[in-house]
Amino acid sequence: MQEKLSIHGAWSNRWVFVMAATGSAVGLGNIWKFPYITGENGGGAFVLVYLVCILMVGIPIMVSEVLIGRRGRQSPINSMKDLAVESGLSPRWSLAGWVGALAGVMIFSFYSVVAGWVLYYVAGMANGDFIDIGSEMAGKRFEVLLADAETLLIWHSVFVVMVMTVVAGGVSKGLERATRIMMPALFVLLFILLAYSMTSGAFGQGFDFLFHFDPSQLTWNAVLVALGHSFFTLSLGMGSIMAYGSYMPKKASIGSTVMMIAVLDTLVALVAGLAIFPIVFANQLDPGAGPGLMFITLPVAFGQMPGGHIFGFLFFVLIAVAAWTSAISLMEPAAAWIVEKFGIKRVPACTALGALVWLLGVACLGSFNFMSDFKIGSMTFFDLMDFATANIMLPLGGLFIAIFAGWKIKRYALEDELSFKQNFWFSAWYFSIRYIAPVAVAVIFALNLYNKFAE
Ligand code: TRP
Repeated sequence: MQEKLSIHGAWSNRWVFVMAATGSAVGLGNIWKFPYITGENGGGAFVLVYLVCILMVGIPIMVSEVLIGRRGRQSPINSMKDLAVESGLSPRWSLAGWVGALAGVMIFSFYSVVAGWVLYYVAGMANGDFIDIGSEMAGKRFEVLLADAETLLIWHSVFVVMVMTVVAGGVSKGLERATRIMMPALFVLLFILLAYSMTSGAFGQGFDFLFHFDPSQLTWNAVLVALGHSFFTLSLGMGSIMAYGSYMPKKASIGSTVMMIAVLDTLVALVAGLAIFPIVFANQLDPGAGPGLMFITLPVAFGQMPGGHIFGFLFFVLIAVAAWTSAISLMEPAAAWIVEKFGIKRVPACTALGALVWLLGVACLGSFNFMSDFKIGSMTFFDLMDFATANIMLPLGGLFIAIFAGWKIKRYALEDELSFKQNFWFSAWYFSIRYIAPVAVAVIFALNLYNKFAE
């Protein structure tokens, strides 16, 4: 059979795929979200559950996404549809792709607001605004920023345009080129950061908080958050990785590339935790401070270091780059689908999508000021976008993908796509995707619903 290619293009080689997918996975989820939800959910026990979820649920699902994408060679919506038809199933399986594309837009909307905060801090660091800042002042500054809708709007808009520009450039001239420049920069910056965190004050205490397992800290809600985050951090359940897989060369091994991506992503999250918690404890800050955690702790630490504003500047640049390469992958599935469906160019497709994301983002940033009284349940619009995607849509998307790959696609198609050298790895993956992943997601989900109603 002749090799089918995507109309959108292809990565030059498998390393570009690894870098692009790592770029998607490593983002605000690792550096901003992971530390603060670990803080809110009690530390080590949460981290352990999170690692188990990555291993038992996340990795098998990531393999499935790459596989479906590479076999379908189209946007997730159309890849799911074609593969379903190929296996004699209803084209309605593309619904999973739809939920995913929608989740991508929703995630992007609040992601962009947080990335906007990051850009604001990049500018502030360059300006020397945080030199000698204490923890109280740092907290105040963050509060003042959140109350200032106009400033938030500017930076949110800048970020949406940055992402739009890359996605509009297409797979080779946009995504691949951005990846090739930004990923090496990201790892250099991260390495500098690690060196600093290991030589700074309360490293041991931060380490303990992350890795000391205390089962009494564990709640069902924490388990759900850990599961949701394992999807979020690996960019699973919505089609980002599926779309990237559709541009992957046929020769490359899916199993080993996925392992590499998952390991890199996990390392970055743990390094971010090891960088942030020592600062929290050295400055008597509250580890459960929520979304502001990183924006309060890091300026304090950098503010006290000699030359810290340069270093802080670099660090926020790192976070901005990580957020940028991730947001690109949030937009790509929907952008590719629009191009396929309407036969239009990328530029108008991305402009339309960008406008939609921008608008939703305005409601997200308003959650901290002019729309702070608008609550659904007890959640602001921002909280709702986060909760509905990470805790509901991504796990559900993942459940669909697991059932689809594990039970619906014909086995010869799976073996053909995976071509694991040893049969052991295929069997291990096949078992997890058929039994462990779907059952774990379904049980955690059901228990949580039960708990919500029992309250
Ligand atoms: N994984 C990214 C992060 O950790 C965010 C992200 C990109 C994402 N694409 C995604 C999350 C798809 C869920 C689904 O910041």
